[in-house]
Amino acid sequence: MPIIAVIGAQWGDEGKGKVVDLLAEKARVVVRFSGGDNAGHTVINQYGEFGLHLIPSGIFYPGVTCIIGNGVVINPAVLINEIDQLNQRGVDTTGLFISDRAHLIMPYHTLLDGLEEESRGGKAIGTTRKGVGPAFADKTARLGIRIGDLLDKEVFQERLRSILEYKNTILTKIYGVKPLSLDEIYNQYCQYGERLAPRIRETTVMLAEALDRHELVMLEGAQGTLLDPDFGTYPYTTSSSPLAGGSCLGAGVGPTRIDRVLGVFKAYCTRVGSGPMPTELKDETGNLIRERAHEYGTTTGRPRRCGWFDAVVGRFSARINGLTGIAITRLDVLDILPSLKICTSYKLDGQKIDYFPGSVAILERCQPIYEELAGWQSPTSDIRDYEQLPVEAKQYIARLEELISCPVNIISVGAERGQTIHKLPIF
Ligand code: IMP
Repeated sequence: MPIIAVIGAQWGDEGKGKVVDLLAEKARVVVRFSGGDNAGHTVINQYGEFGLHLIPSGIFYPGVTCIIGNGVVINPAVLINEIDQLNQRGVDTTGLFISDRAHLIMPYHTLLDGLEEESRGGKAIGTTRKGVGPAFADKTARLGIRIGDLLDKEVFQERLRSILEYKNTILTKIYGVKPLSLDEIYNQYCQYGERLAPRIRETTVMLAEALDRHELVMLEGAQGTLLDPDFGTYPYTTSSSPLAGGSCLGAGVGPTRIDRVLGVFKAYCTRVGSGPMPTELKDETGNLIRERAHEYGTTTGRPRRCGWFDAVVGRFSARINGLTGIAITRLDVLDILPSLKICTSYKLDGQKIDYFPGSVAILERCQPIYEELAGWQSPTSDIRDYEQLPVEAKQYIARLEELISCPVNIISVGAERGQTIHKLPIF
């Protein structure tokens, strides 16, 4: 059986949680490969509604092994709370494992995320302030502490002592705030370590074994392509790679093992936080989409910026990720609109361009060039068969496929698992 990577193809919040939850039924292993608790997946199923931040959505299927991969940064307090919430509501979490190589979010990371954002003033990135960026920065600077370090208290204490000395210098001398206590952090994190120890593993071995047994493995992305530190709207990005390429590094599998890359797109665009978004609608239509779709962040509750589908982004995302298929979510949100626009290219300083520029300064000067299509103005939420969709909705989907040069496999027409149209088999 193959490996499938499911990745966000826009600016995050594309509805990956629902798509992963759908596909997890067939998977035996689901691995979260990037980000931290800055991500938020809403999953609605027979147990109720859940906002998951770290635990893969596959947790709801008995017998599915869920792995938090080495590419994730973990706030252990958040993870333990999530495990407890699931257990209290009757969800079995014994199949959840954590890579010993995953880095920890420490109290100074969360503190510094807020302090750094405030010091940026009007140029703030609009981070989730969960400490994710500072934790990834420390990983790269070789100042990180990995969850596996908690298994040896002496090693952990020594590492924390030297790192905290440095962090406290920054906190007190640069930001003028109080230093953090070594003992408090040490004791607290030792408790987290004891609680999580049975789940901490060399997870790449677990993955290799699953592949040897020919089981379906799913790599679950967080955030979206345009938040990638290399290919996104830098510096208005997150700090780990949400791309298909990032899934190899963040889960511990070689690129030749990945058979399918499913890109999840909303039927329109949204973005949280700062940075350019060429098709943003700052008008009534934007507000209508936001309210109708309840476009407010799962993690921070912030209103999401809404806009028309950007096919320049779509093409770029398909190319950078090597998409083999697409899942379109929230098509039903567009049911009421009399007409729809798709951005097919940009106008830059009077010239038409059809590529996605690398520089935000250039992107900010790009004006979307739109193509207008008729809306369908009829409900789609109860439709399960592609052929039953209104002709205008099929035209909209077909045009997206054409502009992105990639087939649509799945169309989601509502939050619930069943509200899904399987247009084309993935395998
Ligand atoms: P950070 O990842 O918290 O450092 O935030 C960096 C940028 O990524 C900000 O613009 C956030 O709003 C955005 N971001 C981070 N996580 C998500 C997500 O799960 N969905 C959408 N945007 C996100």
